[in-house]
Amino acid sequence: MDDAQEAILYRHAMPMFLWKTLQWLNVGREKKLLQAWKTTDAYFGNCITLRRESLCKGVDTTDMLSMYIKSEHESCKNDMFVRDAIVNMFTAGRDTIASGLIWFLWLVTKTPRVEAKILEELKLVAKMEDPKIKCVFNSDDLKGLVYLHASLNESLRLCPPLPLNSKGVIKEDVLPDGSVVKPGMQIILSFYSEGKMPWIWGEDSLEFKLERWIDHEGKIGYELMSKFFAFNVGPRTCFGKDIIYTDELCSCRYTL
Ligand code: HEM
Repeated sequence: MDDAQEAILYRHAMPMFLWKTLQWLNVGREKKLLQAWKTTDAYFGNCITLRRESLCKGVDTTDMLSMYIKSEHESCKNDMFVRDAIVNMFTAGRDTIASGLIWFLWLVTKTPRVEAKILEELKLVAKMEDPKIKCVFNSDDLKGLVYLHASLNESLRLCPPLPLNSKGVIKEDVLPDGSVVKPGMQIILSFYSEGKMPWIWGEDSLEFKLERWIDHEGKIGYELMSKFFAFNVGPRTCFGKDIIYTDELCSCRYTL
């Protein structure tokens, strides 16, 4: 995955004729990309075969791969479609979750006030099951936890795993600020900067402050979501966004 992502990143930074030539010659990063592609396809192909076999034997699992395989949709009967869908999600969700979690843990641990609020909230939903383990809760219990949700939003605002996003221009248009964009131009959006701008988030924009997300009824206030770009907004919004908050595809148990 790392080799593939590196080669794809470089494709954005060099002229197309150059990387196409490297690809044709099968050298350098393009060679690594081809090898990585074969490796991931073979790996996920094998996972699909094994999962189909275990589902046939009646072993039921609720992860994303099993959901695709169990789907009645015609395209999900095709292993290549399922494989490509899973590779797509792996590519989109692997480093983003890892980086998002690291920043989240860093911000929470250096803000004891926030850590205490999250723990307090978790204790309300956690069940005492095993005396050796203090508390247990599952992903369903996490739905609707206001402080946890607000702290995830706040850390993704300050430290977005995708700090830059670029869009190409297909036809001439005028942006809301009056700038004219022409076909072939690239627009680079800095989610990192947007999340810190005082005129958007207020004078306290650099503070890790959960309260900005919580409305007067104690619920997550959704009006801020229109300026929250960590998952992009509009038709190309992150496909995995809901998974991040609810973790609903995994039947995990967590201990506190
Ligand atoms: C904290 C974690 C994540 C962040 C910050 C994040 C962020 C984003 C952003 C900004 C985009 C838009 C990219 C663009 O402009 O084209 C995007 C797209 C996407 N994300 Fe995520 N993502 C995360 C996790 C995930 C996960 C876990 C999955 C899958 C299980 C996922 C699947 C996708 C897919 C498939 C797209 C492309 C959607 C489309 O273009 O229609 N993401 N994500």
